Amino acid sequence: MALILGIESTAHTFGIGIVRDGKILANVKETYTTEQGGIIPIESAKHHAKVKEKVLLDVLDEAKVKIKDVDAIAFSQGPGLAPCLLEGMKFAKKIAGKLKKPVVPVNHCIAHLEIGKITGAKNPVMLYVSGANTQIIAYASGKYRIFGETLDIGAGNFIDTFARYAGIGFPGGPVIQKIAEKSKNYIELPYKVKGMDIALSGILTNLKQKLESKEYSLSDLSYSMQETVFAMLVETAERALAHTDKNELLLGGGVACNSRLQEMCRIMCKERGAKFFCPDRSLLVDNGAMIAFLGEIMFKKGIKEDKLGNIDIKPRQRTDEVEVEWR
Ligand code: ATP
Ligand code: FE2
Repeated sequence: MALILGIESTAHTFGIGIVRDGKILANVKETYTTEQGGIIPIESAKHHAKVKEKVLLDVLDEAKVKIKDVDAIAFSQGPGLAPCLLEGMKFAKKIAGKLKKPVVPVNHCIAHLEIGKITGAKNPVMLYVSGANTQIIAYASGKYRIFGETLDIGAGNFIDTFARYAGIGFPGGPVIQKIAEKSKNYIELPYKVKGMDIALSGILTNLKQKLESKEYSLSDLSYSMQETVFAMLVETAERALAHTDKNELLLGGGVACNSRLQEMCRIMCKERGAKFFCPDRSLLVDNGAMIAFLGEIMFKKGIKEDKLGNIDIKPRQRTDEVEVEWR
């Protein structure tokens, strides 16, 4: 039996989760938001430094466990914003040093994927749609292989930037979803699918021009943006299902909170007789539980580090670089 604490701090969210035997005992987080404009990395790191002790106390309280009973401290090693990653790592090392327990360095994107196993998906194609990343991934011989991805920006960052042009603060995704629900009027936008890859920056420029022209309502543009971009995601995901001959689709990452994206994935899966899986919202956006969950799997396979000096952050680590030694 292992009791693992997982720390998430890659970007906007500082979260700690506690997991025991694949069960989430508690998942507490504080998120840096703005009224207007995007994330400023240093400001987000300051936010993390300010909230970390309180998040720790709250998560221990909620899980009803004592810090001394924790077996290892997992933390998000990368990819992410360096100042934010550093806050998480420093805190992980501080706790580990005090308790004389090992740390488990976890890849953030793979944690977004592995937490999907909690839904019962066995061997899925994964559509991972978050802030910085948009990838279609499947596991094959020792690695998470990327079958398709965005050629420029992640879908979450794309939506957040569109929102910013419209004067909406960070994160824009949930607000844009609400605004989109008010329209059914489709306005033609560029549709950019290349094989299993997608491109978003041209659509962003087009949307910006349409906003500035003041000829279109924000709800029509938000609706049309979602319909277009989500159709691109679903099309490429379907192609990956056909190509890999798999019959499960797992949706993950923060943008997966969007109920229209979920609905479109569900319809596509139904039409081709595939099963659709999507974890609970609390596990989709950045959170500590997903880090603790993968941390526990790795810890049980002996993947851990006792010498804290050997560990550093990896701001640019890619999903398909990681040797998946725990499967
Ligand atoms: P990455 O995992 O690539 O490092 P991240 O950690 O910033 O990126 P997540 O926390 O997984 O990303 O997701 C955050 C993103 O999800 C933000 O861009 C936010 O706007 C988006 N998002 C959250 N809810 C919704 C929603 N309902 N509709 C669309 N987007 C959403
Ligand atoms: Fe994330």
